[in-house]
Amino acid sequence: MKTIIEPFRIKSVEPIRMTTREQREAILQKAGFNLFQVHADDVLIDLLTDSGTGAMSSEQWAGIMRGDESYAGAISFYRFQERIQELTGFEHILPTHQGRASERILFELTGGPGKVIPNNAHFDTTRANAEHSGAVAVDLPIAEASDPACRHPFKGNMNVAALERLIADVGRERIPLVMVTVTNNSGGGQPVSLENLRAVRSVCDRHRLPFFLDACRFAENAYLIKRREPGQAGRPVREIVREIFSLADGATISAKKDGLSNNGGLLLLRDEALLYRASNLLILTEGFVTYGGLAGRDLEAMARGFEEVVEEDYLSYRIRSVEYVGERLGAAGIPIMQPPGGHAIYLDAAALCPHIPREQFPGQAVACGLYRLGGVRTVEIGSVMFGQGAALELVRLAMPRRVYTQSHMDYVVEVCASLYDRRDELRGLRIVHEPPALRHFTARFEEI
Ligand code: F0G
Repeated sequence: MKTIIEPFRIKSVEPIRMTTREQREAILQKAGFNLFQVHADDVLIDLLTDSGTGAMSSEQWAGIMRGDESYAGAISFYRFQERIQELTGFEHILPTHQGRASERILFELTGGPGKVIPNNAHFDTTRANAEHSGAVAVDLPIAEASDPACRHPFKGNMNVAALERLIADVGRERIPLVMVTVTNNSGGGQPVSLENLRAVRSVCDRHRLPFFLDACRFAENAYLIKRREPGQAGRPVREIVREIFSLADGATISAKKDGLSNNGGLLLLRDEALLYRASNLLILTEGFVTYGGLAGRDLEAMARGFEEVVEEDYLSYRIRSVEYVGERLGAAGIPIMQPPGGHAIYLDAAALCPHIPREQFPGQAVACGLYRLGGVRTVEIGSVMFGQGAALELVRLAMPRRVYTQSHMDYVVEVCASLYDRRDELRGLRIVHEPPALRHFTARFEEI
């Protein structure tokens, strides 16, 4: 059989609501052309993010009822801990309420003024937390990452030569750790190869630098290694996952992605002195070390989610369904970031509407256009999110896990194709209000 089907059937459904074009026009105006400000029931297909938006399995829901809500030493924590130890090989695991809480603790302890933190590409919250500590966040992607049409299989790779140069330029004592994000979300959901991870590890060894992963989408990355990296096709994904984590000294993870949970995060550490300090900070700001700001039931959902996400039928469906959308958009001539990555399709807004200059946010114009035409919510990943230094003007169609079916995706492709036919009508935007940090969440725009 050629068709890779959803490896599940649907047990519980949630209605979605169509709006009229006139209604959406008024909603856009009211939201200041910022889709984060739109009420979710005014959205038909919500591709804003794959974070916390997945559907849980019946086993996860069963776990919710089993949750042990004891303040200290809850059985749910030990179940969760054992699962993560087995999955990653890490002994020390701190739960947090979401990924950015892990980032805040890590950077508060290791960052600070004068420090420089390299990454293949920081995601928005990672960059913001590093900078909030006073450190400078530096992105070191490979050259191929900046060409959306280039079909390099591992465009998420870190530029190892650039890392060596950075260490030589600023000095190793100013670099508290080297981070690699798997998969690289800001650069198109592109995976990082095992070969690249090993190379970064060896640079870190040579300079005695700790190596950390931002491992939100570790399972999708591992599956893409299996599919794309020479010599990896025969290995179980679980084994690849273990190898990825074995290379690192620590990791921040948001369980809202490959944890298949609606909430939760993790901080994995090897260094006992750092663990001690992180545990104290966790108790101060998140909660005791056996719950970290979560409910016992959340830990149960995570324990099960981190098990289901490495099932290969799930991963093959997941990666194929994203690739399917990429193929259909490509066939319609719509420029996208190639090749399709793990969790999303990224439209290349700069190529799609060359008549809108970067100062007028072509990505935001495309995102508003998709909502206006078909009630599809996406997110700009470009100059709005990262400022005028953004490498690319992308619009991300993030796929919630196990939520939408192929006919939903066929509809999304039709909306994109219809927008593409009328791309000349798209208008640029100007910002009329912006907050001091992470402006994409609350900025207001008007059409030019
Ligand atoms: N790192 C990466 C690579 C991410 O994509 C995210 C979240 C985080 C860290 C932070 O995790 O949300 O649990 O605090 N990305 C979401 C997104 C928000 O839409 O891509 P969090």
